[in-house]
Amino acid sequence: MLSNRARLIVKTMVLTLLGAGVSAAIVGLIVLRGGFYNISATESHYPLIYTVFEEGLQYSIQNHAQDIEVPALGAPEQLLRGATVYAANCVQCHGGPGTAPSKHGMSMQPVPGPLVDADVNWETRELYWITRHGIKMSGMPAWEYHLSDSDIWAVVAFVSAMPAMSPQDFRGMTAPGAGVQSVPAAVQESAKESARAAHQGDQS
Ligand code: HEC
Repeated sequence: MLSNRARLIVKTMVLTLLGAGVSAAIVGLIVLRGGFYNISATESHYPLIYTVFEEGLQYSIQNHAQDIEVPALGAPEQLLRGATVYAANCVQCHGGPGTAPSKHGMSMQPVPGPLVDADVNWETRELYWITRHGIKMSGMPAWEYHLSDSDIWAVVAFVSAMPAMSPQDFRGMTAPGAGVQSVPAAVQESAKESARAAHQGDQS
């Protein structure tokens, strides 16, 4: 049995924690119902809130994408198809090498970043997951109802090869009526390398 003193200590601790919880809830409710948080797209989130969202986003995508099998990527026909899909659906918000996003892409918060380094920040399977499922409350649409699975992989292959693309490569591949000869060998190699890296990741 606890001594009276120990009981008093436990009781004080529990009451203090409860009190702190209730006060935090009240403050939270005042901030929420008072409408103090600025939800406009002309101001970014507070750094702390932004950090929490970004961390949550990273872990959520890592977790949900872990079982996706990455097919072979990098055939010139596939990259050309990816370029067409990108020009029709992605460039407005994300821009491309040497190409700015459109007005509405630049007026969003969070700003849809350039995808030139997306292949460095994300695994290939994660790029596929993001493209297919979108990101809630960020303006990144889910493409699974609008693009076939092979088109999603094509655009992922294209995005994964973006670090190897010059502005001229990008313009050449996304030009209407472009042919497979507009897909540089370095771009093909870059997409192949991303798929290979994904497979090596599977074995380790
Ligand atoms: C309506 C605007 C819009 C369109 C169109 C759009 N996206 Fe996005 N995308 C976003 C926003 C907003 C984010 C989230 C940015 C954030 O959270 O930092 C995002 C994030 C991403 C990311 C995560 C990259 C990162 O590191 O921020 C990838 C990959 C991506 N989009 C790929 C695509 C692809 C591929 C397409 C075309 C099939 C596409 N997006 C079309 C708005 C868009």
